[in-house]
Amino acid sequence: MQQKVSKIGVLTSGGDAPGMNAAVRAVVRTGIYYGLEVYGIMRGYSGMIENDIVPLHSRSVANIIQRGGTILKTARCKEFFEYEGRSRAFGSLKKLGINGLIIIGGDGSFRGAHKFSTEFQIPCIGLPGTIDKDIAGTDFTIGFDTAVNTAVEAIDKIRDTADAHDRLFVIEVMGRDAGYIALHSGIATGAENILIPERKTDIEELISSLQEKEKRKKLVNLVVVAEGDNYGGAEEVAKVVKQRLPNIDTKVCILGHIQRGGSPSCIDRVIASRMGYSAVECLLEGKFNVMVGIVNNKMHFTPLEKAVKAKQKISDDWLRIIKILAS
Ligand code: F6P
Repeated sequence: MQQKVSKIGVLTSGGDAPGMNAAVRAVVRTGIYYGLEVYGIMRGYSGMIENDIVPLHSRSVANIIQRGGTILKTARCKEFFEYEGRSRAFGSLKKLGINGLIIIGGDGSFRGAHKFSTEFQIPCIGLPGTIDKDIAGTDFTIGFDTAVNTAVEAIDKIRDTADAHDRLFVIEVMGRDAGYIALHSGIATGAENILIPERKTDIEELISSLQEKEKRKKLVNLVVVAEGDNYGGAEEVAKVVKQRLPNIDTKVCILGHIQRGGSPSCIDRVIASRMGYSAVECLLEGKFNVMVGIVNNKMHFTPLEKAVKAKQKISDDWLRIIKILAS
């Protein structure tokens, strides 16, 4: 693997996450500080394949730290799964002399980066940018804090109307493979039940817990469901509840993509800035093919290969907390 990095490319890939812009800003300004040329690759790996690459200067990233979305745009790129696509992407980098890459995205994006760096000997650094927080080797992912706060704000509002009408709301939050948004937003809003993909949903357990609440006239209930819950999401759960407990006034609310947008929280801006800065230092120090994370408030480096294989685990303690506090 080549050692001296002089021109670097930065891209955002997969689902956008609030704080991606703060990370791009940190990469650009740290790179320039160290005398590197920095390029922005548009639309993730698609832009790399199509040679849609622009030089970035200090001013190019002015006034973006507070903005959601990503100025580089993002995409989920199927062509990059194929060797042909990766080879074309390498051709674009070669043309410009880019010899180091920083990829801000989720595990799918890291899988691509790992393959690409192995095939074409190009150093890659990953920054965990996903609202789902489903990546091992870091306590935080860029975007999670903002997304979960958006969900909390929305669920608080739903509780007001649920309370006014004595209703049960089944609320779906994002998280295709991970229940962190459901778990955190559910605990923070005092949800009565939380259903997550990491735990097989026992619908009978849910029904009997709601029956028991109905008996003691606890009629305002919130059930937070992660979209990837194995039972099939909020609509499916509500369907069964309506059939089995027809006296309960049950409504569904799917929060959807509002969780992905919006101005990043302070935490997301700060972690994105620290990670972006650290990614450039990794490239300069020859610490290649790692994902930059934060563990116990210290920078933590996980080989890209491992970051894509492992998932964070949800401990049984979390599930106990929900059960005890939801009475
Ligand atoms: O990975 C983040 C995420 O928001 C998931 O929670 C969700 O399932 C997925 O992206 C949705 O992706 P898209 O916006 O491409 O439909």
